[in-house]
Amino acid sequence: MTCLVSCPSGLLVIGHLLALSSVNTQSEIWTNEVSDVQYGRLGSNVTLVCGAALDRTSVKWRLNRSSMLPWQHRVTSDGQLVLLQADRTAEGNYSCHDDRGRLIRTTRLRLGHPPGLLNVSCRVSNHSLVLCSWVESVKTLLPAQYHTSYRGNKSQVRMCVVSSPPQKQCTITDPTMWQHYHNINITETNPLGSQTTILMVKFHELLQPDPPEAVTAVGMVGYPMRLQVYWTNPASWLHDAVPFPLRFQLRYRPVGSSIWSNVESKSSPLLITDALAGHAHQLQVRAQDDINPDSQWSDWSPLLQACPWSGSTAEPTEETFPVDYNDTDADASTANTKSESSEDDGGSLLILLALFAVIILVLVSSLSVLMWVRQRRRDNVTKQELTSMVKMKSMPI
Ligand SMILES: *[C@@H]1O[C@H](CO)[C@@H](O)[C@H](O)[C@H]1NC(C)=O
Ligand SMILES: *[C@@H]1O[C@H](CO)[C@@H](O)[C@H](O)[C@H]1NC(C)=O
Ligand SMILES: *[C@@H]1O[C@H](CO)[C@@H](O)[C@H](O)[C@H]1NC(C)=O
Ligand SMILES: *[C@@H]1O[C@H](CO)[C@@H](O)[C@H](O)[C@H]1NC(C)=O
Ligand SMILES: *[C@@H]1O[C@H](CO)[C@@H](O)[C@H](O)[C@H]1NC(C)=O
Ligand SMILES: *[C@@H]1O[C@H](CO)[C@@H](O)[C@H](O)[C@H]1NC(C)=O
Ligand SMILES: *[C@@H]1O[C@H](CO)[C@@H](O)[C@H](O)[C@H]1NC(C)=O
Ligand SMILES: *[C@@H]1O[C@H](CO)[C@@H](O)[C@H](O)[C@H]1NC(C)=O
Repeated sequence: MTCLVSCPSGLLVIGHLLALSSVNTQSEIWTNEVSDVQYGRLGSNVTLVCGAALDRTSVKWRLNRSSMLPWQHRVTSDGQLVLLQADRTAEGNYSCHDDRGRLIRTTRLRLGHPPGLLNVSCRVSNHSLVLCSWVESVKTLLPAQYHTSYRGNKSQVRMCVVSSPPQKQCTITDPTMWQHYHNINITETNPLGSQTTILMVKFHELLQPDPPEAVTAVGMVGYPMRLQVYWTNPASWLHDAVPFPLRFQLRYRPVGSSIWSNVESKSSPLLITDALAGHAHQLQVRAQDDINPDSQWSDWSPLLQACPWSGSTAEPTEETFPVDYNDTDADASTANTKSESSEDDGGSLLILLALFAVIILVLVSSLSVLMWVRQRRRDNVTKQELTSMVKMKSMPI
């Protein structure tokens, strides 16, 4: 029995973009003196400074220690190197040398884009944690830092704690769930500029538990239309001192059918009483916060397949060798008895065949005896007839 999963991808509710502040482009070039890395904007004219004021004739520029500069460039009168409309192939280690070949300065050039808006989504899988994550809408190709905060409607600004690198998500612990909405402020800063994305979210509407776990279904001995379904709360819903109540929805259908039957329940287990006897069924369970009607249903649990109890094929053996059935593996024991009974069937079939052969043999032999007797009688009769005819012929007329 294959119990494969078709798991709908996580429902991430994307909040609504409230306001966007414009890019603060700092400067086309941002020099980091400590590591001597220079950042430039892709597609712009990038100027590299040699340091000491020199003139064009006394300075030599090299890239990766080669005096060949593959990129289209010019050297200004004071010895600065200008790379025209630089693209990524212009990246590398630039060094400038005096006319005697002595190194004056090395600069590592990295090119990219200033930050753009972020695509932010938040997940609320229980009442005590909000996880917001983001992806860049512009690939900046440059290292960035993120500052994140949030504030409720009228409450003060609080931190959303950014994860350790890669800094692509932040967590809010103990969110004030009851507030109507919250603004989340994420500012991305890289060497070429910074950009703030502000997202308005409603935590109580985003609240979406993880799917129920450990879903199992078992048949009930003697009830070919019943399936007992068990599950547990998602692990991410278990750690509150007093867990918030959940409600559950179970859907099931015979394998091959496209129509689901639905049942709701406040707790595990749940008994299905209208299963299709003798058919494997597919089952899934999902959960929702029981108190908050604005919250989301979880995804469905992975597809589970189970069969109701079926006793028909096992009955004859059951009478002779009663099997100690056990609710939890009724299926397994049914399967065992099935194979046993089929072995028995094989044995009795052989005996039957032998019996049949004997009967046929007896029949055939008795038939031949009978025919022989009849033949003899007929022979006698014809002899008698003949003799009588002869007698008649010989009789004087
Ligand atoms: C780059 O420099 C060239 C030549 O100096 C100039 O024609 C061009 O307009 C400059 N491009 C930009 C984006 O500044
Ligand atoms: C460029 O310099 C960095 C250190 O600044 C070094 O790690 C890297 O290997 C250099 N690359 C080349 C091609 O020389
Ligand atoms: C220079 O080295 C960098 C790595 O540091 C490399 O990405 C780049 O392609 C090299 N450029 C040239 C022209 O060799
Ligand atoms: C934001 O991300 C979601 C998936 O997380 C994607 O469906 C959507 O197209 C993205 N929007 C933009 C503007 O990139
Ligand atoms: C702000 O919150 C208060 C209660 O905390 C609520 O009455 C008010 O409607 C909220 N404002 C907005 C714009 O939602
Ligand atoms: C967002 O946060 C930045 C600092 O991280 C702050 O300068 C800016 O004013 C904030 N914007 C809003 C609308 O709260
Ligand atoms: C809430 O969910 C997070 C993971 O999503 C988990 O680490 C945390 O323990 C959960 N908290 C509670 C109280 O269940
Ligand atoms: C029921 O099943 C369990 C494990 O499947 C087994 O350990 C136990 O002995 C069984 N009980 C009976 C009465 O067969």
